[in-house]
Amino acid sequence: MGEYHIRGGRRLRGELRVRGGKNAVLPMFAAMILNGAECVLHNCPRIRDTFISAEILRCLGCKVTIEGNTVVVNSSGARDWHIPEELSGEMRSSVIFMGGLLGRFGQADISYPGGCELGTRPIDMHIKALAAMGTFIETGERLLCQTKGLTGARIPLQFPSVGATENIMLAAVLAKGQTKICNAAREPEIVDLQGFLNGMGADIKGAGTDTIVINGVEKLHSVEYCAMPDRIVAGTYLAAAAITGGELWLTGVTPSDLIPVTSAFTEMGCRIAEVENTITLKAPGRLHRIPHLATHPHPGFPTDMQAPLTATLSLAEGTSVVKENLFSSRNGHIIGLQRMGADILEMQDNRSFVIRGVENLQGATVEATDLRCGAALILAGLAAEGNTVVKESIYVERGYEQIELALQKVGAEISFK
Ligand code: EPZ
Repeated sequence: MGEYHIRGGRRLRGELRVRGGKNAVLPMFAAMILNGAECVLHNCPRIRDTFISAEILRCLGCKVTIEGNTVVVNSSGARDWHIPEELSGEMRSSVIFMGGLLGRFGQADISYPGGCELGTRPIDMHIKALAAMGTFIETGERLLCQTKGLTGARIPLQFPSVGATENIMLAAVLAKGQTKICNAAREPEIVDLQGFLNGMGADIKGAGTDTIVINGVEKLHSVEYCAMPDRIVAGTYLAAAAITGGELWLTGVTPSDLIPVTSAFTEMGCRIAEVENTITLKAPGRLHRIPHLATHPHPGFPTDMQAPLTATLSLAEGTSVVKENLFSSRNGHIIGLQRMGADILEMQDNRSFVIRGVENLQGATVEATDLRCGAALILAGLAAEGNTVVKESIYVERGYEQIELALQKVGAEISFK
């Protein structure tokens, strides 16, 4: 377990390139089992979760090589459908291997997914949807799934779950007949998964809207694909410029994926410029508050940016109220921010935070409890007076490729120990 050591007070300035999206590539790893052929994936971030996903594919009998940000997988030799606990328990996205394994082998034997502690994270929608497509699922110690052949179905989701939408897409591409997902998640990562699967020869339409139609095909073939940029890493870097009163320009991003995030920074008084695949943010002298900000499924403000934005608002002038609507307790960052001098009142529901902006934060030793909490504490450390140590780096390493090197490049005094 490493730590980030930060000496705060430096305005960040410069250019950063944003790598491929964690939440785009993770379902693609699960999809690679489907075609029994080669997949070449470019712009894949070198983060803990992608290395774990590669290990899962190796466990299933796939050949996997990772060179730089390109992953090559050949699943022709895959013969196994069991994922060991020590791997699937590491991350939430392991649950999406259910759809891939059922599509390829007609069975799956995986343990319950792990992932960041954000409150209860049931998988009832995944199970209900796969059952509707002809899967028998035993939910005991492990998830044992079996099907005599997946059949297409009309699947109305009671909530636009990202993971459930992705799991259904993977199960449906080789199923018999048509699958229609109603109230589907509309995240850009779903659109990217559609592009990846159609690149393999699948027949999917509608990703990015609330209705996705998949016509099952007989066979899939090799694919070479370039993953979309990580909109949450991009948002985190923008927050680093905003919270330190600096100026950053990001390349390799898709501005349209970040509209709710750049709108929030504009409301805080930042100057945003977007040209093709770049976004520039110039911070004001003092950030303005946001009276009310709530997280919602895309195209609403993304829950994964809630912690980084709460950290940024802790130095804004005035009082902001942030409401977390997606997870029952995505609040691990609050205690660390308070230890650094942020004036944040957490309401009874664990989901609403009243943030009274302070002039300064003070460096402290704090602990990451989940991926975006760790990012938020690093952001606060960049702006705080004195030294900050953010412990439990393993969480940040799950989703940010060497964040300390990126931030050093634009003037931060940060090291990894
Ligand atoms: C994905 O998680 C992302 N993870 C999360 O990013 C992201 O916060 C989340 O989508 C929302 O955008 C990956 O893509 C690997 P959901 P997922 O299913 O699929 C409830 C990060 O920091 N729910 O849309 O797990 C669930 O409990 C991570 O990068 C059910 O009740 O999110 C939650 O409250 C964190 N039953 C809400 O829906 C189900 O069967 C949204 O979950 C499924 C979900």
